[in-house]
Amino acid sequence: MSQMRRVLDTYADRFGSVPQWVVRAPGRVNLIGEHTDYNDGFVLPMAIDRSIWIALRRRDGDEVHVYSTDFEQSGRFAVGALHNEEHGWLEYLKGTAWALQDAGYCLCGWDGVVGGNVPRGAGLSSSAALEIVTARAFAVACGLPWEPKEMARLAQRAENEWIGMKCGIMDQMISASGEAGHALLIDCRSLETESVPLPPRTAVAVLDTATRRGLVDSAYNERRAQCEAAARFFGVPALRDVSPAQLLARAAELDDLTLRRARHIVTENERTLLAAAAMRDGDAVEMGRLMDESHASLRDDFEVSSAALNAMVECARREPSCFGARMTGGGFGGCAVALIQADAAKVFAASVTESY
Ligand code: GLA
Repeated sequence: MSQMRRVLDTYADRFGSVPQWVVRAPGRVNLIGEHTDYNDGFVLPMAIDRSIWIALRRRDGDEVHVYSTDFEQSGRFAVGALHNEEHGWLEYLKGTAWALQDAGYCLCGWDGVVGGNVPRGAGLSSSAALEIVTARAFAVACGLPWEPKEMARLAQRAENEWIGMKCGIMDQMISASGEAGHALLIDCRSLETESVPLPPRTAVAVLDTATRRGLVDSAYNERRAQCEAAARFFGVPALRDVSPAQLLARAAELDDLTLRRARHIVTENERTLLAAAAMRDGDAVEMGRLMDESHASLRDDFEVSSAALNAMVECARREPSCFGARMTGGGFGGCAVALIQADAAKVFAASVTESY
C-alpha cells in the first residue's frame, strides 16, 4: 500500500471523516558537499522518493491531535501552550509549531495522521522531512504563505533550538524545495539555489549499510566547534572564506587535527562547485571522480566515516556501472551514495547487495 493511502485510510479510521488535505515532504541524499553547510559553504543534495505524509483537517481551537502510523502512537498539543518535553516524534511537530509562531505566524489546530517511509537514523533526513511536512500542514490548515527558504530556516531553528541538534540548513532546504530529476546547488550563506540536472543516462543509488549512527550528536557538534576554531584562526566568519591557497600558506601554523578538519571543508567546497559544473556539462565521469575524492577526505581528514560505510563504498566502486561513490549525510553509519549508469541500476543494486 502506498504511504499516502496508508495515512488517508488511517485518518478515516481514527477520525471518522475524510481529510481536507494531504501534504508530503521528502527525505534527501546529498551527492556532495558534506559538513560544509554549517561552514557557510556549498552543498548539492537531491530529494529522494521516500517521504513523510500528513493527512489532515482543520479543527476548531488551537489543539493539534495527531496519530503516527510509524510509531502507532497518538499525541496532542495546544499551539498556545507549547512545552519542551522528552525526545520523541511529537517534539518535531511541536518544535516546528514553536518556530512558526515565534516568527509571527498565527497558527490554528488540526487533526492529522502522519507517516512515511524515510528510514530513521540512516542519514536521509527523516527529521527534516518531519519538520517540513509539519510546516506544510500548518501552512495549508492555517492559510500561511509557502516560502521554501523561510520555512527551511524555521524548520532548522526547530531542530537547533527545540530538539537541540546543531545541524546546518541543507536538509530542510532540500526537503522544502527539491525538484524531480535534479540536485540543488545551495549556497548555504546566501541561500541562493540552482537546480542542476543529473548527467544523461545516470541514476543515483542510495546504499544503506544497515548500521545506524550511534551517539553522533556530540561528534557532530564537536566537528562544528573544530571548524569554528579554524575559522577564528584565519580571522574569517566561516571556513567558506578560506581558499585552498590560504590554507596551504598557513598550514604549518595549525595543529594536525585542525589542519585536517579545515582541509576537508576548504577542499569539499571546491569539489562541490566543480561537481555542479560537471553535472551541468553532463560529465558523469568527472562527477564520480569528485565523489570518490570527497569520500577519502571525509574518511581521512574529517573522520566521520565508518568501516561499514567504507566497505559499502568499495563494493559500489567495484561495479563497472559505477562512476563514483561516497558516504552521505552526517556519517558514522547510515547510507552511501553512488552515481551509476541508469540502465544498469537493477544489476548494480543486486550485485552490491550481494557483495556487501
Ligand atoms: C546532517 C546535518 C546537515 C549537514 C550534514 C553533513 O545531515 O543535518 O545539516 O551538516 O549532516 O553534511
